[in-house]
Amino acid sequence: FIGRSNVGKSSLINMLMARNKLAKVSGKPGKTQLINHFTVNDGAWYLVDLPGYGYAKVSKSQRKEFQGIITDYISKRKNLVNLFVLVDARHEPQKIDLAFMEWLGESEIPFSIVFTKIDKLSSNQLQKSLARYRKIMLLEWEEMPPTFRSSATSSIGREEILGYIESLNEQMEGYFTDQSAPNA
Ligand code: GTP
Ligand code: MG
Repeated sequence: FIGRSNVGKSSLINMLMARNKLAKVSGKPGKTQLINHFTVNDGAWYLVDLPGYGYAKVSKSQRKEFQGIITDYISKRKNLVNLFVLVDARHEPQKIDLAFMEWLGESEIPFSIVFTKIDKLSSNQLQKSLARYRKIMLLEWEEMPPTFRSSATSSIGREEILGYIESLNEQMEGYFTDQSAPNA
């Protein structure tokens, strides 16, 4: 799970796992400063809470170091099956997100988009916002990646996202050798 600082990565992980205090949530951007792995089903698979990119309140050099760690992690992780890129459903497409997804495309890293905090929008506002996002994405992309919408406060999107993870895990069954198994 990745996305700009404060977009709701840790909250979404907690919502998916139905645990309040698993991943640290904060109103203060930059709370998640490490790569946190949460194992599920006795380590059969796991979720990863990545540090937010963007305006984390850390020094410039520390931010650069984080960026290096994140891009390294994403591009070298053999058993990364899917990256959920979170974007705030209320905001118009941000350059940093679009550029990041472009880099994912070039690097052939599979990803999907989760539009977060949809409880803060009316259904009409949400439709408009998603249509705008789609329009801008399709200027660069031939098609949209899988997209989800979520609300950590009302658990909207939980079934869809967990169902998607389950279908990916089924597809990946037997794919990893022992050496690259999540627990290795
Ligand atoms: P960093 O770790 O700093 O990168 O942030 P993060 O992306 O993990 O965000 P986090 O889950 O800590 O949430 C940031 C703030 O947004 C907190 O105040 C959350 O309570 C709030 N928030 C997250 N998801 C939702 C949501 O779906 N709805 C609403 N209303 N608030 C949310
Ligand atoms: Mg976090």
